[in-house]
Amino acid sequence: MSDTEKIKENIDIIDFIGEYVRLKPSGSNHKGLCPFHNEKSPSFMVNRERQSFKCFGCNKGGDIFTFFQEIEGVEFVDALKTLADKAGVTLTRQANDVNKNQKNRIKDINAAAALFFHNVLMQMDVAKEARAYVKERGVEDATIEEWQIGFIPEQWDLLTRYLLKKGYGIDDLVASGMTIKRDNANPETGKGFYDRFRGRVMFPIKDVHGTVVGFTGRVLVEGEHTGGKYVNTPQTIVYDKSRVVFGLDKAKQEIRKKGYIVMVEGQMDVIACHQAGMKNVVATSGTALTEEQIKILKRYSENFYMAFDGDDAGKVAAKRGIDLALQQGMHIRVILIPEGKGKDPDECIKKNKEVWFESVEKAKEVMGWYFEIHFSGKDLENPREKQNIVDILLPEISRIPFAVERDHWMRQLAGRIGVDQSILREDLQRIQGQEKKIKTREKEEIKEEKEQITKKKSRLDLLIEQVLGLLYRFPDMAKDEKLAILDKPLSTSVYGALYENVKIQYSKGKLPNGDELQTANLKEQIDNLLMQSEWEFSSIEKDKAKERVESSAKEIYEEWKKQQRKQLEHAISKAEASGDKEKIRALLELFQSI
Ligand code: UTP
Ligand code: MN
Repeated sequence: MSDTEKIKENIDIIDFIGEYVRLKPSGSNHKGLCPFHNEKSPSFMVNRERQSFKCFGCNKGGDIFTFFQEIEGVEFVDALKTLADKAGVTLTRQANDVNKNQKNRIKDINAAAALFFHNVLMQMDVAKEARAYVKERGVEDATIEEWQIGFIPEQWDLLTRYLLKKGYGIDDLVASGMTIKRDNANPETGKGFYDRFRGRVMFPIKDVHGTVVGFTGRVLVEGEHTGGKYVNTPQTIVYDKSRVVFGLDKAKQEIRKKGYIVMVEGQMDVIACHQAGMKNVVATSGTALTEEQIKILKRYSENFYMAFDGDDAGKVAAKRGIDLALQQGMHIRVILIPEGKGKDPDECIKKNKEVWFESVEKAKEVMGWYFEIHFSGKDLENPREKQNIVDILLPEISRIPFAVERDHWMRQLAGRIGVDQSILREDLQRIQGQEKKIKTREKEEIKEEKEQITKKKSRLDLLIEQVLGLLYRFPDMAKDEKLAILDKPLSTSVYGALYENVKIQYSKGKLPNGDELQTANLKEQIDNLLMQSEWEFSSIEKDKAKERVESSAKEIYEEWKKQQRKQLEHAISKAEASGDKEKIRALLELFQSI
């Protein structure tokens, strides 16, 4: 068995893809919304037995490796390494190639560094102060273990020297972001290289699979010469801060279970929440929430509970994040920590854990929160400011799909602005008109896209797809009695080769199950035909299938004749142009025979 086969054997494709896409059983398949293109109704199917997936909307398909490569944007070797780890398979032949890959070497460096930092924190004398600091912040020993928290003392190149000694190359260390290279650095002597992280408590940042992709380091005591409070790994080939969600590897299961995500601002907030027993909590790492992060989170839940620090910068960041998330169709609530109960979740939990749990439970609808931030500090005597508030809030209100709720906020707005509701309705009509235009345009675009996809296939191809799909699904249909399928060559069709094969087997009284087909291409075609058929006729029974095959077979014959005639007409007019009488006569004869 090859490595890839072993891995496929050990990873259940439904579970695996299920981490990214919410799948529902559908006959012998599972289906869900395609993660590779935008769609409203599911055309993405996964089949456990065949260990493959297929989207009938955008035509992407393949196995767990193709899926992983596509969704994580990585090369095959990376997919192989990650999935081998996940499957507990030790790679044989490809192992060398994998080690040659810089991405994987950097992941190894990160893992080694995480272990080093952690050991330093737990065991070394130089980490005494750090241990006291972590303890003072209320982090328990089990939490330190679980999050692999570490420490690096204030020295120039402690980590760099350690990793070099372990055999890692200086170029890889620089590429990992752990080591900084000075302009005058000399790779021969190792002079001019120093650690990025010095004198900091270290938190490994892991991707959703639990692989260490980077770090964030916090100074023990903030001072003038300490640099930023937190320093993060820069962009590297394994660390893309816009895609990483801190804590997701540990939170994903609980998110699924609880059905919502709690989004906080800092790493310490995440850790404090998990320690307090709330484990569906994640944070962005030193960035405002990005579209990519939302897409990743959406795989686990569409319900977002967001907590922001109360300062102004926090509000602006929050609004951007919320808008982005709303655009992606997330349902959002905002968590407000009561005045004086702590500036962030970590502080709040330290003061009184119950208050935090309550705040999460009582998270507000976005609209209530919007009202708070847009009215706060505004001069309501100023008509310009009043209009500004209305211009911001009214479109938001108009997007609420529920009449009663919408009415509630309309009244609120009218009351607080001090105008009659009819005035707001005037503005609302203008706004709804604009939104409607946008919606119809979107709809048209979707329709066009769909047409584009189906246009590529001829009617004949579609019919053949149906017939072949059903014949493969009900193989013994051929045994019962002879079916009148077309016995003419279909060389012009994309399914020509497969159709020929079916005909040959069929004339022998059996139907190929695909195993005796030599080319992978044909096997893949069968896979897709089966899925498509199960998709189109999900619960069809054998009798109905047979009827369908027979009627489609007739139509195939008619379509085939049409196509043949068209081609002959074309050939005849060409022959006429060149005056080849012999050819014309032969072609005409052929034309009549059809
Ligand atoms: P905060 O300043 O709110 O810090 O920054 P915090 O999370 O409460 O940290 P503690 O409790 O003082 O340890 C929120 C987040 O912004 C990022 C970090 O991810 C931090 O958790 N940040 C902050 C940086 O990346 N760099 C900084 O210098 C400061
Ligand atoms: Mn904090």
